[in-house]
Parts: sequence; structure tokens; C-alpha cells
Amino acid sequence: MPQSMESASSDVFNPEIGPDHVAIIMDGNGRWAQNQGKARLFGHHEGAKRVKDIVSACPDFGVKHLTIFAFSTENWKRTQSEVTGLMSLFRRYIRNEMREVASKGVRVRFIGDRNRLDAKLIKLMAELEAETRENTLVHLTIALNYGGRDEVARAVKDLAHDVKQGKIEPSTVDEVTLTRYLDTNILPDPDLVIRTSGEARISNFLLWQSAYSEYEFIDTLWPDFTQDVFKECLMRYAGRDRRFGGVKK
Ligand code: FPP
Repeated sequence: MPQSMESASSDVFNPEIGPDHVAIIMDGNGRWAQNQGKARLFGHHEGAKRVKDIVSACPDFGVKHLTIFAFSTENWKRTQSEVTGLMSLFRRYIRNEMREVASKGVRVRFIGDRNRLDAKLIKLMAELEAETRENTLVHLTIALNYGGRDEVARAVKDLAHDVKQGKIEPSTVDEVTLTRYLDTNILPDPDLVIRTSGEARISNFLLWQSAYSEYEFIDTLWPDFTQDVFKECLMRYAGRDRRFGGVKK
């Protein structure tokens, strides 16, 4: 896509020069709640509402793919009550709000290792994926029990299995081969990765896929991430000069 500094500095966002695929590390729910003297889970519930707002804005902002980090392979280290509360929030969200989002033309898919999730949640995830499989307006990918290193390790395990079975000749293995074994094999690489809450780290999110992504680390806590804040991130992206390791023509 052509890039233009002009549009980045203007108030009018041109979706034509925005990113096709945005990935978001939704951080800061706990702090947002604690700042108000409330329990951390309250922040997660408020954060879930923002997911809905941001998905709704994608068509107008020209974003075709949105990938969100809902629960990492490391998040199991949180207290039992927070983990249980989050799992119950995911089930409720998929059952209620997500169905509504789905009826608006959003295709929903999940990445991550489902083995550690409870049976009820796995069933709801599979149902939502099946229910929305014909949708094309926005592709929403939810990373649940996802870790970039875990994803690569699982991919290598499956690849090694296929080599052992004689389906793949080891000397032919290259980046494209490995990419096909990743959970994200259905997605383009993210153009832009946003992390909220002032932390400037990747935290094991889309490690392989974000090799050439642009990053936005912003101070806003996730429950305060409005459609306007999203738009500002997209406008700054529009002003970036992406060279993918090459030189400017
Ligand atoms: C990080 O904030 C957030 C999470 C680990 C959970 C993200 C989940 C949601 C936004 C809920 C809804 C998602 C879906 C898909 C329904 P944190 O708890 O680490 O915040 P802190 O750094 O302030 O403690």
C-alpha cells in the first residue's frame, strides 16, 4: 500500500493507507480497575466491552484482520480466582456478545493451544468458528492460551512428525514450510502491533509473524482504548516508512 505523510498529519484518516492486519496486546485491565478501587476482574469485564467497540470500528477503518491477545500461556500463573474469572468471562462473551458481532459479518477464529482449556469453552469456540466461517467483513482472531514460543514448538513437533512419516523431505524445509504449521497459517503477518498500558515489550505474542510489523506502544490502559484512540494509532501507522529490510525507492 502507498504511504503518505500528508494523511498521517491530517485529521482525516484514509483507510486506504491503513494497516490490513492489526494485532493488539490488550494490557492494563487490572491497573484500570485498581485505580478505581475495584477488583481486577472488573477491569477485564470493561476490557471485553472495548473488544466489541474496536471490532465494530474495523470496517470503517479499513482493517480486515484484527488479532487480539486474550490469554497467554503464561497467564495461568495468576491467582486461581482471576484465571477462573477470565475463563468464565470468555465463555460468557462467546455465548452472548460474540454471537452478535458474528451476525454483523465478522469471522471469528482462535489461535493457541486448546488442550489446557475446559471442555465447555472449547465447544463454544468451535461452534463460533463454525457459525462464522462464511463471514468475510472482518477476520477476528482471538489468541487464547497462546504463546509465540509454544506455537513455534508445536509447529516444529508437527513438522517433525510429517518428516518422520516421509511426507516432507528435510532438505526442502524453509520459512514457508514452517509458516504452514503455525496456528496463524490462515492469516497474513500483522502490519501493526499495538500494546496498551505503557509497557514496551512483546510478551511472547506473534513472535514469528511480527518480524517486520510496526509497533505502537501507548500509555492508554485497555479499558480506555476507544475507537478514537484506535484511529490515532492507525494514523501514526500511515506515516511510517516500511522498508522490510530494503531501501527506500
Ligand atoms: C492484561 O491486562 C489483560 C489480560 C490478561 C486479559 C485480556 C482480556 C480481556 C481484554 C477480556 C476480554 C477478551 C475477550 C476476548 C472477551 P492485565 O490484567 O495484565 O492488566 P495489568 O497489567 O494492569 O495488571
